[in-house]
Amino acid sequence: MTDPSETLPSDSIDSILDEIERKAFSKIEQAADSAELEVLRIEYLGKKAKLSFVLKSLGELSRDDRVRIGGRANQIRNGLEESIRKRKEVLKGAWREKSIDFTLPGLRAESGTLHPITQTVHEIVRIFEKLNFEQVAGREVETEFYNFTALNIPENHPSRDAFDTFFTGHGHLLRSQTSTVQIRIMEKRKPPLRIVAPGRVYRPDTVDASHSFMFHQIEGLMVDDRTTFADLKGILHLFLRKFFGETSKIRFRPHFFPFTEPSVEVDVSCFICRAKGCSVCSQKGWLEVMGAGSVHPRVFEAVGYDPRKVQGFAFGMGVERIAMLKYGISDIRLFFENDVRFLKQFF
Ligand code: PHE
Repeated sequence: MTDPSETLPSDSIDSILDEIERKAFSKIEQAADSAELEVLRIEYLGKKAKLSFVLKSLGELSRDDRVRIGGRANQIRNGLEESIRKRKEVLKGAWREKSIDFTLPGLRAESGTLHPITQTVHEIVRIFEKLNFEQVAGREVETEFYNFTALNIPENHPSRDAFDTFFTGHGHLLRSQTSTVQIRIMEKRKPPLRIVAPGRVYRPDTVDASHSFMFHQIEGLMVDDRTTFADLKGILHLFLRKFFGETSKIRFRPHFFPFTEPSVEVDVSCFICRAKGCSVCSQKGWLEVMGAGSVHPRVFEAVGYDPRKVQGFAFGMGVERIAMLKYGISDIRLFFENDVRFLKQFF
């Protein structure tokens, strides 16, 4: 026979096609993404692909081979095109599943917030800072000198009872009032002084709705050569108006503190009922909010100031109590239980 196709290795073409069938389909089905699929498409269907070469050389085959091999090669090409198309669809679907559906409602990220006591401290301190008071810190572990003696509460004096605390047995104690900071600051600095000192204090009280063995106070102290009781009243009234509302009234009731003379307890008119009487103020119309007074000469002596040359006032308030009044909270324990349902209300 002189047919040139006789010389073409038709069985080797068949084995090329066999190999394509064996490998190409499974590779296409396993393509991990569209880029990989495109590489396979070029490998098996591109201009330089073996299959393209086979199809191009069909003319060189004998008629019978051309019909048979041509049919087979075209079938493979169609099959490859079809399975690439199918794989593309599958990969698209998978991408959709993995990607974000922007039409769904969003998930809000939980963010923390400042504790209501911290917020209240900030709010109070901010008001005093506007009046030129500087925020200072003391320490929670103290000595008898700072918690008692220097504050005119002598050893063995019954007035120690009112400020009883936890003792370590090694000459140290947990401070039971922030008035300790008055002493620490006056020891270090000379008048004029205007400070506020927020912080934790400790008392051996049985825990109930209005008592805790730990709570927060803010101490205030102003000392120079002319500050009077009238300044105390003016500054506290200004503070109470800013904190509880502009129509708030202030009332002083005589009291006793060892470190101030005269001493007062400070009331603010009830901001709920406007002094008419309600359950928050127990029908009194007034809310007790802090203790205050003119600094006792003995306190000045304890820090080395000359009581004939300086004068001033001090005040101290319980932060939990003030926050409870302002936000209508009936149990102090809520502040310390870390229940997010409670804390979340102060975002
Ligand atoms: N330290 C007092 C207390 O804890 C409050 C106070 C401070 C009173 C300063 C007068 C002056 O009760």
